[in-house]
Amino acid sequence: MQGRVLEMSILLFLVFFPLRSLGHRLEGCEDSSCKSDGPIVHFPFRLSHQPKHCGYPGFELHCNNKNDTILELPSSVHLVVEKIDYVSQQIHLYDPDQCIATKLPKLNLSQSNFRNADDLTVLFNCSEPFTDSNDGYLVPCLGSSGYQVHAVTSTLSLDFLLSGPCTKIHQYPYTESTFGENKLQLNWPVPLCGNCEFKGMDCGLKDGTKLSETHCFN
Ligand SMILES: *[C@@H]1O[C@H](CO)[C@@H](O)[C@H](O)[C@H]1NC(C)=O
Ligand SMILES: *[C@@H]1O[C@H](CO)[C@@H](O)[C@H](O)[C@H]1NC(C)=O
Ligand SMILES: *[C@@H]1O[C@H](CO)[C@@H](O)[C@H](O)[C@H]1NC(C)=O
Repeated sequence: MQGRVLEMSILLFLVFFPLRSLGHRLEGCEDSSCKSDGPIVHFPFRLSHQPKHCGYPGFELHCNNKNDTILELPSSVHLVVEKIDYVSQQIHLYDPDQCIATKLPKLNLSQSNFRNADDLTVLFNCSEPFTDSNDGYLVPCLGSSGYQVHAVTSTLSLDFLLSGPCTKIHQYPYTESTFGENKLQLNWPVPLCGNCEFKGMDCGLKDGTKLSETHCFN
């Protein structure tokens, strides 16, 4: 009888201890969100009220007074998180003020954990509308009386624009749809947790690591 108890204890120990030592989703690090239909926040992200170890450094989100989920990017650019794709490691953002074109000049992604697709868009200030409205996007929030602003991908031949009623404002390393739709899609190369997510596993910091190493666990 005592042998059986010992056997059972060893079995229980083997069953439960490895799970615990692998760091099953930690206390206080449960899935969370700013509102019921808001994006689910979990590692590598955490909400600002959750303990630091719940997220990867630089992946803190907060809830604003409208219960929107906010990502702050350098320098002081606050964007709303619409969706987080944990498998493909992409975050979908939009500007709550509906004019991302005024925010992007301040944005410096090289100081963040996030990257955008390699692209180039030129903004033009035009006193007449484009004859071919298929070219690019109108950016209504930058328009002024008698002038409209167009965002056009730099792969188009732009000479015809400059010879016309348009002046070039500036070029930005973002897709033209960013300006047209007020949406910004970024990805994060590090930490690599998409493989864990794909397998239906959780991802987290390794216990006691000082180098912010991550691993998959059940
Ligand atoms: C935000 O969420 C809290 C708690 O669920 C709720 O009481 C409050 O009314 C919400 N605020 C808005 C602006 O939706
Ligand atoms: C962004 O930050 C990097 C690193 O601090 C700096 O070298 C670069 O000049 C900045 N770029 C812009 C556009 O401010
Ligand atoms: C477009 O040009 C007009 C006339 O020079 C100017 O008043 C307006 O501020 C310009 N708009 C932008 C966004 O540069």
